[in-house]
Amino acid sequence: MTRTFSGIKPTGHLTLGNYLGAMRRWADVDQHRTDALFCVVDLHALTVEHDPARVRRLTRQSATLMLAAGLDPRLCTVFVQSHVDEHARLSYLLECTATDGELRRMIQYKEKGARAQAEGQSVRLSLLTYPVLMAADILAYAADEVPVGEDQRQHVELTRDLAVRFNQRYGHTFTVPKATHPPVAARVMDLQDPGSKMGKSHASTAGIVHLLDDADLVRKKVMRAVTDSGTDVVHDRESRPGVANLLDILAACSGGDPAELADAYTSYGALKKDTAEAVVDTLAPIRKRHAELAADQGYVDQVLREGASRARETARPLVDRAYRAVGLLPAV
Ligand code: TYM
Repeated sequence: MTRTFSGIKPTGHLTLGNYLGAMRRWADVDQHRTDALFCVVDLHALTVEHDPARVRRLTRQSATLMLAAGLDPRLCTVFVQSHVDEHARLSYLLECTATDGELRRMIQYKEKGARAQAEGQSVRLSLLTYPVLMAADILAYAADEVPVGEDQRQHVELTRDLAVRFNQRYGHTFTVPKATHPPVAARVMDLQDPGSKMGKSHASTAGIVHLLDDADLVRKKVMRAVTDSGTDVVHDRESRPGVANLLDILAACSGGDPAELADAYTSYGALKKDTAEAVVDTLAPIRKRHAELAADQGYVDQVLREGASRARETARPLVDRAYRAVGLLPAV
């Protein structure tokens, strides 16, 4: 059976981008079709300045939202990365496989490193090695598919390179995974700045729809979205990024093709209104289920406990094999 692995980083409140780019397909498709593991990758949240209490709170909230978005622990495994030691164990072996040069070429390292420096912060070494830990997350489970948004493409490419290199040097050990992306909304853009990705750790939240925003706030954010100077509604990401983003969101939330939907509109106002309502309808059941689950943390804890135990059982034999393959003496 195909194995799927994907994860989400608890560095901020989850966004419509996280949902449309990744989580929705995990719930609607991957957990039904494959042997799927979904992880709150909390170790990754330590690669930039962080507040320990906030990371703990967001880890719980992200796990709760993954369940609220439809992940069913009877169909898939939901767990927290730091509960399974194999991620860190394997990451070290992959640091001994990756090169300094290839990590410095990673776009997210360049962007986030530059941002940290501009804010007067020092760049943590773990920001550079982040994609290696991500590769370990995926390879430890012999995942075939990694359902992610467009922004993770380069990281999954590196994961493939590391798997191939390791296998060539030490004998076949790892499955070489491939990234999968949703047909629409693989890159949801910020509503105020359609040139940048809608990201959960942005300072300004005006252009970011959070999964837990109430209906009125969602409407306000969508209605105030920056559009373009033209007036006709066309789907062109280059010349009309703001309008194209709204069409992508509308298509993802209500079904349909963004370019075809464009033909149905003659004004930006009507497009914004329909997009706002489609987003509100999409998020309503998630918010409702989140409120129920948040009141039952005992259940969420149990899911995470059982998930970690299943994840450990899956990863340990493979990581042990990798340790032996590189020449480390098994414990005597
Ligand atoms: P993260 O936490 O930034 O995002 C989680 C998932 O949401 C997708 N996503 C988006 N998709 C479309 N439009 C957007 N604006 C948008 N913003 C986020 C991301 O592509 C991702 O699929 N490095 C990863 C976490 C990670 C991981 C892994 C993923 C760590 N280990 C192993 C897969 C497999 C990240 O920072 O995702």
